[in-house]
Amino acid sequence: MSNVKIAVLVGSLRKKSFTKTVVETVIKNSPKEMEYTLIDIGVLPIYNQDLESENREPKEWLAFRDKIRGFDAVLFATPEHNRSVPAALKNALDVGSRPYGQNVFNAKPAAVISVSPGAIGGFGANHHLRQVLAFLNMPVMAQPEAYIGNVMNVINPDGAITNENTVGFLKVFAESFLNHIKNNLK
Ligand SMILES: Cc1cc2nc3c(=O)[nH]c(=O)nc-3n(C[C@H](O)[C@H](O)[C@H](O)COP(=O)(O)O)c2cc1C
Repeated sequence: MSNVKIAVLVGSLRKKSFTKTVVETVIKNSPKEMEYTLIDIGVLPIYNQDLESENREPKEWLAFRDKIRGFDAVLFATPEHNRSVPAALKNALDVGSRPYGQNVFNAKPAAVISVSPGAIGGFGANHHLRQVLAFLNMPVMAQPEAYIGNVMNVINPDGAITNENTVGFLKVFAESFLNHIKNNLK
C-alpha cells in the first residue's frame, strides 16, 4: 500500500505545548507508511456565517478546506479547556464543515488523543470532540483510547517523552490508527 496521508490538528496554539510534544512522539513512533502533516489552525479567522452568505470568505478558510480535502485521515490531539474542546480546534471544525453539504472532514477516518497536566487526561475534551466528529461523519477509532494525563511527569527536561510505558502506548496507538485507516478508507 502507498503511504497514508494524515492531517494533524492540534488544539493548542502554545509554542511549548505538551500536546504537541505528545504528537511528536506519536509521529516518531509510527509505521513508516504514515505520512503526517501538521496543520496550523491558529491562522483561521473565527467562523461567521455572514462571510459565507456575503461571498467574503477569508482566504485562510478556503486554503484550509482545500488542504484537508487532500488527506486520507485526520489525527486530533487536544488539551482540555474548561472540560471541553479549545475554541481554536472547534473553530477549525466549524470552518471545515461549511458551506452546508461540503464538509471536508466527511468520511475521513480519525483518531483522538487528549492531553493534560491533570489526572483526568482531558476526558471531557476527548468526548466532546468525539461527539462533533460523529456528526461530521468521521469514523473515529474507538480503541485504544488515549487520555494522556499527568503529562508533565513524562516530559523530560529536554522537552521530550522518553518514558518507556508512554512511548510504548503511543506506538500501539499509532499502529492501531493505521489499521483503522486501512479498514475505513473509501
Ligand atoms: C482556558 C483554559 C482552560 C483550561 N481548562 C482545563 C480543563 O478543563 N481541564 C484540564 O485538564 N486542564 C485545563 N487547563 C489547563 C491545560 O490543560 C494546560 O494549560 C495545558 O498545558 C494546555 O495544553 P498545552 O500544553 O498543549 O498547551 C486549562 C487551561 C486554559 C488556558
